[in-house]
Amino acid sequence: MRVLASAPAKIILFGEHSVVYGKPAIAAAINLRTYVWAEFNEKGAIKIEAKDIRVPGLTVSFSEDEIYFESDYGKAAEVLSYVRQAIELVREEADRRDRGITVSITSQIPVGAGLGSSAAVAVATIGAVSKLLGLELTREEIGKLGHRVELLVQGASSGIDPTVSAIGGFIHYEKGKFEHLPFMELPIVVGYTGSSGSTKELVAMVRKTKEEIPEIIEPILLSMGKVVEKAREILLSDLDEEVRFERLGKLMNINHGLLDALGVSTKKLSELVYAARTAGALGAKITGAGGGGCMYALAPGRQREVATAITIAGGTPMITEISREGLRIEEVIP
Ligand code: MEV
Repeated sequence: MRVLASAPAKIILFGEHSVVYGKPAIAAAINLRTYVWAEFNEKGAIKIEAKDIRVPGLTVSFSEDEIYFESDYGKAAEVLSYVRQAIELVREEADRRDRGITVSITSQIPVGAGLGSSAAVAVATIGAVSKLLGLELTREEIGKLGHRVELLVQGASSGIDPTVSAIGGFIHYEKGKFEHLPFMELPIVVGYTGSSGSTKELVAMVRKTKEEIPEIIEPILLSMGKVVEKAREILLSDLDEEVRFERLGKLMNINHGLLDALGVSTKKLSELVYAARTAGALGAKITGAGGGGCMYALAPGRQREVATAITIAGGTPMITEISREGLRIEEVIP
């Protein structure tokens, strides 16, 4: 039997980092996907093959102990640890630790870009392997297992990335609980800096600063939580679209400033953010952990101009769409 599952990337619209401290966040799945084939092998071992894993500027192919292309080995190896943990957790859940499983991965999601590539690979692996082992899991349960994978691999995680990747659509997330927000198309442009940040290191850095100067960092995190609540109110309101976008844009700019204050922005990220605003975006901010990775801009009627401005500022623009669907079982071959 062979199973093919896929899971989407995500963007965090509001609330990254503060979500790690129990504040709410809003995120959406986007239409870039990771695909995972799973099948049994007779060796009793876990075997991982990955093709087309996109690390900045390169396509990598590797199997468990062999790298086929010279590339950013660190990033490729990081992907492996999410996949391995995901397989091990599902084997445990199914009480089939002895079962040999081979997974083969292809991905459209750039690694380390803040678009949730690790969560997507974990969720797609859990989806494919659980189906292979005959384990009936809901998407919510798969998201929770994805959160456990993140905790095991990266130490700290709010769980928002695997939840959005498993469930899809627009999500308001708080302390492990999620609420679907009404689906809408958002005229956004994502800008990729071309370099990547380590979520694990950035989360640890914010924690350290918080421990050193809690009297300064805690109010920032509190404000971020309030930005998210305000954004949720606007998204659920029946305000005119123009007013709604304008208010969301303002909140994005505030959220970016607060993230900058936490120290997770970079020169390049800020340059892309300001280039987008200058080109007419109503708001622009980092999305994801920062330290490189991506920003996004809200640019109704100005997406093309903003994309050009991002290119001129040295970034790679991506005009993405929100994906209604989370985890998908694409094919089951008996
Ligand atoms: C990463 O996409 C978002 C962070 O808030 C980390 C997390 O929520 O686990 C930085």
